[in-house]
Amino acid sequence: MQRELQNIVILTGAGVSAESGVATFRGPDGLWEGHRVEDVATPEAFARDPDLVQNFYDERRAKLKTVNPNAAHLALAKLDEQWPSDLLLVTQNVDDLHDRAGSKSLVHMHGELNSAWCLACDGRFPFNGTMASGPTCPQCDTPGQLRPDIVWFGEMPYEMERIELALSQCDLFVSIGTSGAVYPAAGFVQTARHYGAQTLEMNLDPSEGSFHFHESRMGKAGDLVPEWVKEILRDV
Ligand code: OAD
Repeated sequence: MQRELQNIVILTGAGVSAESGVATFRGPDGLWEGHRVEDVATPEAFARDPDLVQNFYDERRAKLKTVNPNAAHLALAKLDEQWPSDLLLVTQNVDDLHDRAGSKSLVHMHGELNSAWCLACDGRFPFNGTMASGPTCPQCDTPGQLRPDIVWFGEMPYEMERIELALSQCDLFVSIGTSGAVYPAAGFVQTARHYGAQTLEMNLDPSEGSFHFHESRMGKAGDLVPEWVKEILRDV
């Protein structure tokens, strides 16, 4: 018997921001803005060629100022505001479009472009400038020690305990705009199912783990997400 729908966990990936003009990671050419993911999103790449990596993220950070939340981000923020039980939005995206749309119960599990991490003092703070020029840390005054506060391959995603707890307590798990290629996020559907949740995927095409979901809806997030939010808020 299906249990009453109360707690919801939503996972988003690059597809939710695609209609805002933010490039997805695995485009048709397999490249992320012209680079192999391993060349810009690993600690090894940063150690080998810090300028390349800093310039890459500086460009992505600057691009954020030119894009806006789309209908999917706005619908999820409305759901966050109006849903009467627990809701946690977990995003793999390092853009700030869910934040700007107004989502409050939000975890950036792969970090944020608009955050800096100082390797000298270990401090993390909001940052929207450029790092390639080697700015000074506002907390410890050390120059040239800032790196993007982004979780690279081989590093531990943020807030995993909070996410695992929410997954174990949710009645519905929804995955939006992610290829399901990167763990641990790709395994959230199995964790949620293990604890008895219903599971729904919304994506342009079937993700790698599509067969794990009870229901799959194929199409653009900007169309599917507002429709789904309307549907589940109807009875609230
Ligand atoms: P991907 O680029 O791997 O996948 C994006 C998914 O969104 C694909 O399945 C597309 O079909 C789908 N998509 C594209 N446009 C869409 C639209 N308008 N509406 C709905 N779906 C659409 O991105 P992620 O799955 O987010 O990690 O990638 C996961 C992680 O890999 C990223 O967080 C990043 C990357 O390496 C790190 O940087 C650590």
